Amino acid sequence: MAIAIMSSGGDCAGMNPAIKYFVEYSIFKKLNPYFIYDGLEGLIDNKIKKATFEDVSGIIHLGGTIIRSSRSKRFFDKKYRAQAYKNLKKHKITKIIVLGGDGSFRAMDVFYNEFKIKFVGIPSTIDNDIFGTDYCLGVDTALNMIRSAVDAIRDTASSFRRAFVIETMGRECGYLALVSAIVSGAEICVIPEMPSDLEYQKNKIELEIKNGRKYILAIVAEGSQKTEEIKKWCENELKLETRVTVLGHIQRGGNPTVYDRLMASEFVKKSIDRIIEKDCKGDVIVYKDSKFDFKNINEIISNKYELPQNLIDLYKENYCQKCKG
Ligand code: F6P
Repeated sequence: MAIAIMSSGGDCAGMNPAIKYFVEYSIFKKLNPYFIYDGLEGLIDNKIKKATFEDVSGIIHLGGTIIRSSRSKRFFDKKYRAQAYKNLKKHKITKIIVLGGDGSFRAMDVFYNEFKIKFVGIPSTIDNDIFGTDYCLGVDTALNMIRSAVDAIRDTASSFRRAFVIETMGRECGYLALVSAIVSGAEICVIPEMPSDLEYQKNKIELEIKNGRKYILAIVAEGSQKTEEIKKWCENELKLETRVTVLGHIQRGGNPTVYDRLMASEFVKKSIDRIIEKDCKGDVIVYKDSKFDFKNINEIISNKYELPQNLIDLYKENYCQKCKG
């Protein structure tokens, strides 16, 4: 039985360990593993190749994805999806494990409805914004990359009397910014999911400055589109010289952390076990309340991810405490 793996959309650390485990576990289960290179674009262009142990040796510690990825526009067109199906038929592939986000899962759902190619989606995105799962592959490495960048910025920040505004990725989701603000002790966190309470922040920070604070850190999610506004606010309201760092694609790189490697193998093992079951059509593996489960693709794509309330509370309680102190 032939089974393929593909990465689609933004890459993330953890994909390579997943790809390695995919090959090893498929062979263990007596399946024939295939790689689809370049994501949905490669599926259209028949960049499909049988995978071997050799292909995956020495990759477990690498960020990115050795089978590469793409954001395909052509796949929206049925003509190209039919071409993709023809390619899969040539290799007798009827099952695909997809490392990607909900946009990729949505595309695979359309493909399943047309051509009955089964798939299991493994949530893989630094944005951590997929409904039904607390964790997406790669988010732990991204958070550690941000932590290390913020620690470094803090070194220089502490040598001046300045404000630093640090912009994180995440599309419309503030998860990366919120967790980073908590673990880095940032004074300000601006995310789309939380109204920014700048008047309150101003009073709090002014009090802190009076008590000896020399610099402040603000972490701003790209989805809020408020990086420039917060910079100006720091300059005009706090009267602090202000610098902006947009962390950008650094957040998508780096060696996968222990946690992302471990989760990559759990996700892959369970997804392969699931995809070979008769009733599997289009499912997504999730990790919710410390348990693995499968959700129907329709549930995933018709609901919106919400930030855990406990994280929002943690941040708020933290800055209120600081203010009191
Ligand atoms: O979805 C992952 C992500 O890194 C987002 O956080 C970011 O907005 C986007 O991808 C960047 O996309 P690209 O790599 O295509 O510029």
